[in-house]
Amino acid sequence: MTSELESLRRHSVVVADTGDIDAAARWKPQDATTNPSLLLAAAGQARYRPLVEDAVARGRGDPEATQEHLFVAFGREILKHVPGRVSTEVDARLSFDTEGSIAKAGRLVALYEAAGVPRSRVLIKLASTWEGIRAAERLEREGIHCNLTLLFSFAQAAACADAGVTLISPFVGRIYDWHKAARKVDDIPLAEDPGVASVTRIYGYYKAFGYRTQVMGASFRKTGQILELAGCDLLTIAPDLLEKLAATEGEVPRKLSPGAGGELERVRLDEKAFRWMHNEDQMAVEKLSEGIRRFHADAQKLEHLVAQLVSARRAAA
Ligand code: E4P
Repeated sequence: MTSELESLRRHSVVVADTGDIDAAARWKPQDATTNPSLLLAAAGQARYRPLVEDAVARGRGDPEATQEHLFVAFGREILKHVPGRVSTEVDARLSFDTEGSIAKAGRLVALYEAAGVPRSRVLIKLASTWEGIRAAERLEREGIHCNLTLLFSFAQAAACADAGVTLISPFVGRIYDWHKAARKVDDIPLAEDPGVASVTRIYGYYKAFGYRTQVMGASFRKTGQILELAGCDLLTIAPDLLEKLAATEGEVPRKLSPGAGGELERVRLDEKAFRWMHNEDQMAVEKLSEGIRRFHADAQKLEHLVAQLVSARRAAA
């Protein structure tokens, strides 16, 4: 008998959603995705202290440079255990700054390349704001591949596909969280799960119109949500859920297939239409802005952790 994890791998590329290098090594995913919150959790662990110390030394007292070195250091270590790509996120403060995002992506890729990691093994993660999508469109033309994250609305998905981005990360769990809170319930059955429905709709739309942008379901709260999306191009899964899938025996049936049909109407969005359509979706508006605030808050905590280390080094010198 096979495990659900092994069975799932026959339908979708399995990605580890973690900043924890040991977890990437353990689960042997094809790719890995990080974000500021995951890297904060990893950087706080004693076993990764040398990596943080090294980034501090390379950053030479500049908090922004230190953070770039830190994100790339974790990405490089993770890449030793995955054959594919690692996603590294751009500072959330740049979520509404196209030029700033492009410059930041260029610096991250330059650090990877200086360390011998080709840009083909890196996905630059950007928030799926209008500005983030425009930055991704230009970066893709320079051969810098992008993963558009914090994706909650159909407008965001349609705009990303038209921009020709490599990959999107539509969130399941945070949509589920929002609807659970709005309905004041403890759970929503899988058949009615609005996060699962969102990814299913986006996948169907992309395949119906032949978009090459890959769909990577993200942000899961329970294994059932993952299994409902078996067949999605990629699924990025946190270590605790990988563990559960590996520990459960069973054949996973394919749920999403390219030929299954989808939206019949193609959506073309200029900036005004994008902003209007996204704004009509209250959940997506709230979750996108909260997501940007949360990633920023965690990046600030990381900065604080690094500042403490710098002070300790100075005191010891
Ligand atoms: C991955 O790309 C996302 O950052 C991640 O799946 C978010 O998950 P969360 O909603 O559990 O924070």
